[in-house]
Amino acid sequence: MTTKNLFILSSLIFTVTIFVSSSATAGGNPADGEQAFESICSSCHGAVGITEIPGIPVFANGERMNKTDEQLKNSIRNGVNNPDNPAGMVMPPFGGGPVLNDKQLSDVIAYIRSLKKK
Ligand code: HEC
Repeated sequence: MTTKNLFILSSLIFTVTIFVSSSATAGGNPADGEQAFESICSSCHGAVGITEIPGIPVFANGERMNKTDEQLKNSIRNGVNNPDNPAGMVMPPFGGGPVLNDKQLSDVIAYIRSLKKK
């Protein structure tokens, strides 16, 4: 094998590696999302996603988890003001905390999804 071919081969492997590792993290890292959830979201949604506050989805029961990551991201970004909420509860954008970037949103969603009891 010539040096040139070797170079092409190794850059190909490199590209594939980058692609595989970035698509693996596209779903978010639950461990990275835990801290944000604990500090910003747990006041309403409860530690480990269990709350008895009426009108707040219980993530430990998998509530709302049939939605896509993109739908959940939009809800977190924009907040949720649902006129049909049984307790008239409103979720502020980002839960009233600091703005989360796309990666942070993916991480916090991965964490929420991990709370569902099997
Ligand atoms: C002030 C209380 C409060 C805080 C803080 C809060 N939420 Fe919520 N959240 C709500 C309420 C109320 C709903 C239900 C709204 C409805 O009726 O659909 C909700 C719904 C959701 C949903 C479901 C949205 C959907 O599309 O159905 C997600 C996901 C969510 N919250 C994530 C978070 C995350 C992540 C945080 C922290 C960054 C957070 N919440 C902080 C009150 C809160």
